[in-house]
Amino acid sequence: MSYNLLKGKRGIISGALDANSIAWKVAEKAHEEGATFTLTNAPIAMRMGEIAQLAEKTGSKIIPADATSMDDLKNLFVQSQEILGGKIDFVLHSIGMSPNIRKNIPYPELHYDFFMKSVDVSALSFHKMMSTAYQLDAMSEWGSVVGLSYIAAQRTLSFYSDMADAKAMLESIARSFGYHYGKHRHVRVNTISQSPTKTTAGGGIKGFEEFHEYANKLSPLGNASAEDCANYCILMFSDYSKMVTMQNLYHDGGYSMTGITNELMEQFSKK
Ligand SMILES: NC(=O)c1ccc[n+]([C@@H]2O[C@H](COP(=O)([O-])OP(=O)(O)OC[C@H]3O[C@@H](n4cnc5c(N)ncnc54)[C@H](O)[C@@H]3O)[C@@H](O)[C@H]2O)c1
Repeated sequence: MSYNLLKGKRGIISGALDANSIAWKVAEKAHEEGATFTLTNAPIAMRMGEIAQLAEKTGSKIIPADATSMDDLKNLFVQSQEILGGKIDFVLHSIGMSPNIRKNIPYPELHYDFFMKSVDVSALSFHKMMSTAYQLDAMSEWGSVVGLSYIAAQRTLSFYSDMADAKAMLESIARSFGYHYGKHRHVRVNTISQSPTKTTAGGGIKGFEEFHEYANKLSPLGNASAEDCANYCILMFSDYSKMVTMQNLYHDGGYSMTGITNELMEQFSKK
């Protein structure tokens, strides 16, 4: 069902790798809700990915950009404005990657060059995107920027390694930039802290399957799906969330507020 919530809005959606990606669902929903947007991903991901199908389906252009490169990001914002015919109303940052996780390096022995890469790709890129938009004055007044986060920023989840530190920084950048962009152009900046979701990034983490199941049992509503997350992103891009900024918004079926559930207790019952 469509409500035309984003009618006339122009956006940039990063991170759609394949049909499981959260960003993929966001692009589908944004299209349904009347937005026009460009799609972007790292040049290396696009050769492997299926993003061209998504572009065709949503009538979007693809602009390759490594989110750690200021030159690529400048090109992304300049070209997006040209293609879409004006300033940008919404941006989705849906980017994360840890070489330490990929190589199964234990947290106490992190490789620091990899650590810097995790932080650059997964957190600093959020700042770099907004800094580029800010300096080009590429965002509309009351525009909306959303980054995707995870509760490992607040609670230690043993399998999440240096991504936890990167997410803590991502959320901090949302608050800090949210202040400056709010004052400057009334642009709002938030992170959405999403349930574990079966995607390439999520599934690449050792122990993910088990944790996905655990989180599902600890959440009164169950895990939020990628589609649910996309709906929340659409709300955050819409004018209905106009006064929400500098927040980390839990989108997790109640997981973050739950200590234990009967369902989980039964698993530890001796009877
Ligand atoms: N899957 C989960 O369980 C989960 C939970 C909470 C938050 N998140 C976050 O959601 C976001 C999207 O992840 P996803 O689960 O949809 O997985 P995904 O693997 O589909 O998306 C991650 C994207 O990051 C892109 N990327 C990596 N390096 C990049 C770079 N240098 N420049 C530009 N793009 C780059 C990848 O190409 C990919 O498209 C990430 O920030 C992730 O941490 C995921």
